[in-house]
Amino acid sequence: MLKTAIGKSHAKIIFFGEHSVVYGQPAICLPISKIQTKVTITKTNAPQTIQSRYFDGKLIDMPNNETGIQLLIKTILTELHQENVSFNIKIQSEIPSERGMGSSAATAVALIRALFHFFEQPLSHSELLRLADVSEQYIHGNPSGLDAATVSAKAPIWFIRGRRLQTVPITKNAFLVIADTGILGQTGLAVQHVKSQLASSTSAETAIERLGENAKSARECLTTGNFKKLGTLMNNSQNLLAKLGVSHPTLDLFAQLAITNGALGAKLTGGGMGGCLIALTQDKKTAQQVADILIKNGAVNTWIEPLKSPDHKGAQ
Ligand code: MEV
Repeated sequence: MLKTAIGKSHAKIIFFGEHSVVYGQPAICLPISKIQTKVTITKTNAPQTIQSRYFDGKLIDMPNNETGIQLLIKTILTELHQENVSFNIKIQSEIPSERGMGSSAATAVALIRALFHFFEQPLSHSELLRLADVSEQYIHGNPSGLDAATVSAKAPIWFIRGRRLQTVPITKNAFLVIADTGILGQTGLAVQHVKSQLASSTSAETAIERLGENAKSARECLTTGNFKKLGTLMNNSQNLLAKLGVSHPTLDLFAQLAITNGALGAKLTGGGMGGCLIALTQDKKTAQQVADILIKNGAVNTWIEPLKSPDHKGAQ
């Protein structure tokens, strides 16, 4: 056992396929490696403490809504036969929570990596995803597993629930603007809402299928570099997600503003009902223009991400 150990993870965005991925449709997701979560474990003889310092700078002593994390810690300690070891856990996250950027999955992944390192145990990628599902199930109810897969990935991934991950090759560069509305969107509630829509309307079923078809077409566009069509597919997905009831007036407004200011397409990302918008632009200058307009209209933060990142190394 080490005296101290660190585990890291990063943010994610869903490019195509949120919600439909829960029902077996494919999704395309991108790791955002510059926005990180770090977990530090330090051995102590005193009772265990957990402190979280999130992106807003607040220091929290184990908030109640994070019992998913407590359950995860208990599960790992039981599986590793280390129930009697005491340590302090410090969670430092730059990822805004409840904005569709994978904050809860990133905390889980960084924590699992830190604990396995602390106990000097090997950790396979499939083991990492299985354990992350413990807290994700607790927090989100019926997670597809895509959040944990993307916050632990080093390249854009093609994700189908229960199948092996694949890397999505991106041949030409373009840019994504990520804009945080500042409005909290709870993934669990949004997933529940879509479930009830599916129970009561056949058009919801069609929307789920179309979202899956858009993900398939988008994969081809990324391979061929057809960004104009990719933008159209984003707009179409945004309309379908709005019909499913998981958009928000601010997301709709941001999407409109992004398009009228030069974006090729725009849509919500993640669970929706708040959270973030993503907009695709051909070049960095237009991306900055779109980011500036969205900040002027109330976005609390923006990030500009190249589609073809030099950091991208492989599916895991
Ligand atoms: C949340 O980031 C994505 C959803 O599709 C839920 C899931 O895949 O578990 C809304």
